[in-house]
Amino acid sequence: MAASTYRSFNIFRSRLGTRKYCTNVHDKPSPFMVQEVLEQLNLQDGQTVLDMTFGDGLHTEALLKSNDNVKVIALDRDPYAIEKAKALTLKYPGRLQPLLGRFSDLPVLLSPIGIKINTLDALMFDLGCSSIQLNDASRGFSSEVDGPLDMRMDGPSALNSITAYDILTRADEQDLGRIFKTYGSENQARKIARSIVTCRYTFQGLNSTGELKEFLKSILEEKSGRVVKNVFFALRSFVNNELNELNFAIRFAEAYLKKGGRMISLTFNQVEDTIVKRHVSGNVLETNPNPMPLKYYGQAFNLSVEEMNELRKSIWAPLSKHVITPENHFKSMNPRIRDAKLRGAIKL
Ligand SMILES: C[S@@+](CC[C@H](N)C(=O)[O-])C[C@H]1O[C@@H](n2cnc3c(N)ncnc32)[C@H](O)[C@@H]1O
Repeated sequence: MAASTYRSFNIFRSRLGTRKYCTNVHDKPSPFMVQEVLEQLNLQDGQTVLDMTFGDGLHTEALLKSNDNVKVIALDRDPYAIEKAKALTLKYPGRLQPLLGRFSDLPVLLSPIGIKINTLDALMFDLGCSSIQLNDASRGFSSEVDGPLDMRMDGPSALNSITAYDILTRADEQDLGRIFKTYGSENQARKIARSIVTCRYTFQGLNSTGELKEFLKSILEEKSGRVVKNVFFALRSFVNNELNELNFAIRFAEAYLKKGGRMISLTFNQVEDTIVKRHVSGNVLETNPNPMPLKYYGQAFNLSVEEMNELRKSIWAPLSKHVITPENHFKSMNPRIRDAKLRGAIKL
């Protein structure tokens, strides 16, 4: 290894020093862009809405409070979130139905409670981590608090699931690079992957979120904040299969919403927003949203205008002309929401 790389590894080791595990550094957030969400949902008496990402329950409670004659089905894959949802049912008797599971489990979960396809009035998802997840250092989601490299949304007792630690210790250099590039849109993916593999042999690998963050800072010259965010997001997204889950979410939204039903999505990075946008605008091939606009799809993809129009057909109509983003003053208060986007669509 080059002398300069040794030096940066040693700086990384010494920076770690006596770092301790700690908890609860985040304040309890309020429901994100709640006014815009409620406006776009436009809930009416007697309607049922599926909150696919219960999390801390802030949006769910806002929906319940917005109209006394609305019912909410609250889904989350995190057992701790669903415990919270169960507690909330006492406050809203007969109006809140908690469901533990993933987007991809929806048909199995909805059938026993009598929800059939083409029947839901509205649904929403607010992607990312809840504060229950971020504030608990032992879950390993946050780069702000030191904890084990876990990152499983399904909780620490989830069976047959991989953790971020498994990926960092077992994936080869090429796969690590692909994960950082594809899931985190990280430009320095290959350099980071190579350094992580080298670190396994020279310093017995990375064992905590704090070690990973300090390690990244030590191998990057500048703008490490953005890179740390990208790498943490890539690992979390890969561990939880989030992009495929999002694809399932929209596929099932198509199936379970009635005609005229509304879907509201809140995403926090470009990769997620692109998936939603491609579905809503009809840029989908073989059930997967395309990585690029159809007209650039490649030379083998020679279609007539009619065929192209057929492919671009979408069962969605956007609820607003432009994507909705948070006010600038909110963005400066919270850099995590810099890339946040709200998209609303109506099922035709
Ligand atoms: C940002 S939080 C939602 C916060 C919530 N809207 C609120 O106001 O408190 C996202 C939640 O979605 C859940 N989640 C993410 N992907 C999921 C999936 N594929 N299936 C079910 N729940 C998921 C996470 O476990 C997390 O609790």
